[in-house]
Amino acid sequence: MNLINLPYQINRIHVAHRENTLGLLTYGSVHHYQPIQEQHHVSLTMTRQGMDGYSSGTLHPIFSQNLPEGFNRRFISQKLARYAKVNDMYLLALQGDQGIGLLNYQSDLLFPETTSLSLDQILSYHSQEPLFPQLLEKYYLRNALAGMQPKVSIPNVQLNQTDRTVQQKDFIVKSFDDDFPLLTVNEFVCMQAAQYCGLEPPKSYLSNNLETYVVERFDRKNTGERLGYEDFTTLLKKSNDADAKYTGSYETLLKATLLYTGRLSEVEKMYRYIVFNCLIGNGDAHLKNFALQYSSDMTNIFVSPPFDLTHTLIYPNIDQNMALKLKGSKAFPHVADLLKLAESDTFRIRNAKDIIFSFSEHILDYLKQSNEVQLFNGLRQSIERSVSNIMVSSTTRKCYRHDKKKKFD
Ligand SMILES: Nc1ncnc2c1ncn2[C@@H]1O[C@H](COP(=O)(O)OP(=O)(O)OP(=O)(O)O)[C@@H](O)[C@H]1O
Ligand SMILES: [Mg+2]
Repeated sequence: MNLINLPYQINRIHVAHRENTLGLLTYGSVHHYQPIQEQHHVSLTMTRQGMDGYSSGTLHPIFSQNLPEGFNRRFISQKLARYAKVNDMYLLALQGDQGIGLLNYQSDLLFPETTSLSLDQILSYHSQEPLFPQLLEKYYLRNALAGMQPKVSIPNVQLNQTDRTVQQKDFIVKSFDDDFPLLTVNEFVCMQAAQYCGLEPPKSYLSNNLETYVVERFDRKNTGERLGYEDFTTLLKKSNDADAKYTGSYETLLKATLLYTGRLSEVEKMYRYIVFNCLIGNGDAHLKNFALQYSSDMTNIFVSPPFDLTHTLIYPNIDQNMALKLKGSKAFPHVADLLKLAESDTFRIRNAKDIIFSFSEHILDYLKQSNEVQLFNGLRQSIERSVSNIMVSSTTRKCYRHDKKKKFD
């Protein structure tokens, strides 16, 4: 794209679902969203009847939730600094029709078509010149993803097919910086472990040179249907600042899941994710790393597949705590704490003990047979330590044993 043709600033964005404009977002002294119809809401948190608009000093959470943070935000801001006033409205407009979820953003920005790639080109890339900076250069203007780590979303990646049909899917490609070496391998291993535990994560891949991790987008179906997506900073109406995703507790996450979905099966799914994150040693399971999805009419609301699973405890440059509180503390829990989490005044997860023990066994089994875990020195031992620290009783410091024979007594 010729950057000279970019509008300098963006103060008006039409928010649409497919071709239907739902409302107008403007920015003057405040951000204002004005619906222009009554049938479709833009968020589960903005469902007032009638045509009243929503004014807010900062950009509304549903619009700000997917704005780039960290690396990607700095990258785009530096690239466009001479040509545009890069603020939240601008970054939102850059999402165009590529944003995660249902909504499209139409503004004065015109996007050129980008040429597509095949998955194989990404996975088997082999050159002295790293691939990721090239992908970033090509796709950064359509980079509609939240998160701190370097990543790009690439539409219409061609998959290798054995028959003659060409299948295309949208992928997210992530790399790593010096602070988190081999995060790609780490995330791939954790996603595979999640698969092993039956959590049904999206399909992911690791490039041969270990420099890129690739994951299928789960907000778009093969039929082209798009699903609504809201992370828990939006759902819990948190402010837009960087720390908000680290405020709150896993208890609240479960309660909010029940509130929005109304289904115990979804609460149990969320409980499984929390247990898995604790066992695998993920200290970055914050509110933006959990989300709900829904059909376009908002009738079917469910917990999204798991994503951004990593074993953070191996990196000495971040603390050894969890991202959210459990029982009032960010220290990693013990089995008893996880069992307690399964019960509240509004729900009870009956098979919590089985979930915890079977996940710990499945993770250890997976690690035994994984080739990829060997690619990261110390990763296997570090995850095993994390599992065993949780499976040790807090009072007796003895290992809980899962007596399979007794299970059906
Ligand atoms: N497979 C997927 N399909 C659709 N959206 C996804 C998928 N994986 C991630 N996302 C979206 O992209 C965002 C960024 O991805 P991710 O959380 O993996 O990045 P990150 O930079 O590692 O995040 P963090 O800042 O939590 O470390 C997520 O918050 C989510 O909205
Ligand atoms: Mg994340």
